[in-house]
Amino acid sequence: MRIENTFGIAAEAREVITYDSEEALLEALIRIHNQYEGLPLLHIGQGSNLLFLSNFEGVVLKSNIKGFTTKEETEDDVLVEVGSGEICDDFIAQAIQNGWYGMENLSLIPGQIGAAAVQNIGAYGVEAQDVIEEVKGISLKDGSTRFWKQKDCQYGYRQSVFKSELWGQYAITRVTFRLKKHFEPKLQYGGLVKAVEEKGLTKDTLTAEQLRQIIIDIRRAKLPDPKEQGNAGSFFKNPVVSREKAEQLLSEYPTMPHYPADEGKVKLAAGWLIEQAGWKGKSLGPAAVHDRQALVLVNKGGASGSDIQRLCEAIQKDINERFGIKLEPEVNFI
Ligand code: EPU
Repeated sequence: MRIENTFGIAAEAREVITYDSEEALLEALIRIHNQYEGLPLLHIGQGSNLLFLSNFEGVVLKSNIKGFTTKEETEDDVLVEVGSGEICDDFIAQAIQNGWYGMENLSLIPGQIGAAAVQNIGAYGVEAQDVIEEVKGISLKDGSTRFWKQKDCQYGYRQSVFKSELWGQYAITRVTFRLKKHFEPKLQYGGLVKAVEEKGLTKDTLTAEQLRQIIIDIRRAKLPDPKEQGNAGSFFKNPVVSREKAEQLLSEYPTMPHYPADEGKVKLAAGWLIEQAGWKGKSLGPAAVHDRQALVLVNKGGASGSDIQRLCEAIQKDINERFGIKLEPEVNFI
């Protein structure tokens, strides 16, 4: 059975099982235990952060748990529990319509709500961890239910407990968000204030719908649509380096973008490093570096996972030789 993924890479599994409720997931787990004992299990979302290097000799699980319910509401905020199979961007659009704010900057990120909580998706100065209150999961091993409060999710930059020590152990079934009932635009990210002003708007006149549209326009201008050209968004994480390392590079490249990170460290822009190294728009067989955002690798048509991997490794080697920086993929290799 074919496994859907936004890279458009052909990959098969023994079976792909989609469940639309927690009960259906429990039934599926029993069937998997009886029918496929000993085979590996892989839980995916929309496949927007996966690179298949070969077929998957096991069973793939996918959530189609839809819908959302309000759990608690005060004058200032609302707790909304969302099914993990809900498309993230659809939920953001509905939330804004309902007057629930905080996720506007995450507009148009591909993927499902469950994956957003696993990956701690982020864009334009907001990360999923800023709005997540609680995550609910079901153990793939014994079907038991578990809840994690936000502070127990070990969130970091594109990192969580679900991606590290609990990887492969739980299906996320629901995510509860704490959203604001008063709109406060977050415009700290470079370029956002300018984009707002270019529309003749100010921080005070801007509505959440307008901010969502601005974010959507910026993304569309830079990032390829996976429906048109296979890709997984940013292929690499932005590297976080010591202050000494950043200063050494800045003395050589004074215009290099850099941002403060945790523990006095400095985050660099992988896209900038890759562009400086001359890779932007370059191809290696059917795999290429996107011509408008060098952090994105694309399938020009018919690429295999290994084609993309070869390009990834060539870039990693070059960036390491030129800048002494080891780029780490954000995409999960399967
Ligand atoms: N840059 C270049 N050349 C490029 C790409 C970027 O010089 O080809 C420079 C830009 O000019 C800018 C800096 O690098 O000075 C940062 O670029 P950008 O604002 O486009 O963001 P990014 O760091 O490349 C990150 C996220 C994106 C997210 C944007 C906006 C990661 C790995 N990527 O990209 O997330 O949309 O910021 O917040 O953190 C994703 O994870 O799939 C993704 C698209």
